[in-house]
Amino acid sequence: MRTIAIMNQKGGVAKTTTSVNLAAALARSGKSVCVIDLDPQGHASFHLGLDAAPGSRTVYDVFAEQCTVDDARQLVAENLSVIPSNIDLAAVEVELSNTPGREFVLRDALNHWKLQERFDYVIMDCPPSLGVLTINALCAVTEVLIPLQPHFFALQGLSKLFETTALVTRRLNRDLRVTGVALCLYESGTRLAADVTEDLRLFLTSSDADTPWAKAKIFKTRIRRNIKLAEAPSFGQSIFDYAKTCPGARDYAELGDEVLAMAQAAGSPLPLQQNAA
Ligand SMILES: Nc1ncnc2c1ncn2[C@@H]1O[C@H](COP(=O)(O)OP(=O)(O)OP(=O)(O)O)[C@@H](O)[C@H]1O
Ligand SMILES: [Mg+2]
Repeated sequence: MRTIAIMNQKGGVAKTTTSVNLAAALARSGKSVCVIDLDPQGHASFHLGLDAAPGSRTVYDVFAEQCTVDDARQLVAENLSVIPSNIDLAAVEVELSNTPGREFVLRDALNHWKLQERFDYVIMDCPPSLGVLTINALCAVTEVLIPLQPHFFALQGLSKLFETTALVTRRLNRDLRVTGVALCLYESGTRLAADVTEDLRLFLTSSDADTPWAKAKIFKTRIRRNIKLAEAPSFGQSIFDYAKTCPGARDYAELGDEVLAMAQAAGSPLPLQQNAA
């Protein structure tokens, strides 16, 4: 079982597109997958065909301890479940602000319902911020996958993101590692994309071995810009249901294969209760 947060505090870099289509690729490979939509925008839920209307059970209710993850979970395709979100989730940032142990609410809910044990992959679509929702994701997973759009400021944002994972690793979840960077919205053949990718490679290879990103892999698959990927959400379909032969489907299928093939330490431990600060 692997737990992966798809994270980047920068907006619009393809976190949701990657969460949904990577999850769908893994599900099509026969893995049982649960997507947790941790963004109050609810885009991952929409993308997978769910409209979490007010009053329906969502991940907000899980945070508020008003329902179990099983009550909120919906099966959307073979092997693929979603715990949806809607704008209600925005309240969590405020409601938990003075709660001791607020970083561990999601982890404890997942551990309690043994969700991690029932899925091969749990994938969390994070919001574009480093607030309490993202910190909850980082405390509930062992892996971070960063979608990165290769442009001039991309690496600047990345250092803040890496600092946050280092802080979480030191204080809250020692099992957390950045395992991969996926280059998304990739413009093949441009100098800028190649330069940013090379800078990233140099940064990773020159990092200290004890940083949580020391072993991060830049996925070979480049997720190319493809209009079908932008159209699929409005049909509530993954790219494989919407246009299964388009370049976007091929790219996400390949990324799925790379994620499946990654050397993941067998029996990698779950974030444990004892990790609590
Ligand atoms: N490879 C791609 N080709 C074309 N369009 C893409 C691609 N990847 C993502 N998009 C589009 O770019 C926009 C941003 O993508 P997405 O919503 O996945 O980013 P995000 O990081 O989740 O954004 P936010 O920070 O708001 O959560 C969306 O309209 C999406 O459909
Ligand atoms: Mg998103």
